[in-house]
Amino acid sequence: MAAPGQKVVLITGCSSGIGLRIAVLLARDDARRYHVIATMRDLKRKEKLVEAAGDAYGKTLSLLTLDVCSDESVKQCIDAVKDRHIDVLINNAGIGLVGPVESISMDDMKKVFETNFFGVIRMIKEVMPDMKKRRGGHIIVVSSVMGLQGVVFNDVYAASKFAMEGFCESLAVQLLKFNVTLSMIEPGPVHTEFEMKMIADVSKKEFPGTDPDTVNYFKNVYLPSSVDIFEALGQTPDDIAMCTKKVIEARSPRFRNLTNPLYTPIVAMKYADETGGLSVHAFYHMLFNMGSIMHLSMNLMKCLTCGCLRRRTISPS
Ligand SMILES: NC(=O)c1ccc[n+]([C@@H]2O[C@H](COP(=O)([O-])OP(=O)(O)OC[C@H]3O[C@@H](n4cnc5c(N)ncnc54)[C@H](OP(=O)(O)O)[C@@H]3O)[C@@H](O)[C@H]2O)c1
Repeated sequence: MAAPGQKVVLITGCSSGIGLRIAVLLARDDARRYHVIATMRDLKRKEKLVEAAGDAYGKTLSLLTLDVCSDESVKQCIDAVKDRHIDVLINNAGIGLVGPVESISMDDMKKVFETNFFGVIRMIKEVMPDMKKRRGGHIIVVSSVMGLQGVVFNDVYAASKFAMEGFCESLAVQLLKFNVTLSMIEPGPVHTEFEMKMIADVSKKEFPGTDPDTVNYFKNVYLPSSVDIFEALGQTPDDIAMCTKKVIEARSPRFRNLTNPLYTPIVAMKYADETGGLSVHAFYHMLFNMGSIMHLSMNLMKCLTCGCLRRRTISPS
């Protein structure tokens, strides 16, 4: 149970990745300002979190079961929180989906929306009324750079995050009237199970209904570029956790929070050309005409951003 003065933070999807690291960072806060309710759909997956939380487990961190795709599970979880009082709700749970649209079943597409979009709305509908009544609270949504800029072969995943951005942009205005803050966290690539799950999923697939040219572009052009981009620009889940903590602690939290400044020009490019042609053609050339240059520049970027070089650059000695 939260001690007096502690903020109650409920996080979805804490069995791995970003959710796990946010839970641990907040639960291990030196000043013990937070009581973290870390949730996951299957508590059998709690070991990594419990180990990382160390002695915070059972003190500033407790666990509850929560599947964002189930009305019943969401209600049961929030009802189990003392007085249903949540100061900060972090909607982190999400799934990815990558591949040619022709090869993806409608059921798989709906699952992405059910988790990434309706899952967040289900949580907000359950928690927001109490926040509005109390005239206070902070709702955080882990979106993605792909909620602002579409990426080839990520059509449905990007659409689910775009939908979330539109929903939140609309709701944020109303919530201000109730002193409830809404913030988006927009990471670029992050090294988590997310990336591995997608690669494992793709390697098993046969892409039924997709023509050989498209399969070739996906497997031999897009996938290698995507791996390069993850390796060169990928952040750690701890980077995203730190950024989220800053957003929670800011006096006036920002609505949008791109976690990786290297993506700012990509998002700016989109707004610089109202016809939309600049982004579409730039991405087309980057992928199909400049593949080898991109591979080289990503490798260069990897060297420039690698930890040891960075350490050497800033080291006083
Ligand atoms: N990694 C990236 O490159 C990246 C980039 C931008 C944004 N994001 C976003 O960051 C968020 C976290 O992803 P991650 O990278 O940390 O991936 P991850 O390691 O795969 O974590 C995703 C978490 O969501 C949980 N989850 C999935 N479906 C759920 C459901 N129905 N109910 C409750 N929990 C569910 C998973 O639980 P199980 O263990 O039960 O599967 C897991 O704990 C996602 O919203 C993702 O879209 C990730």
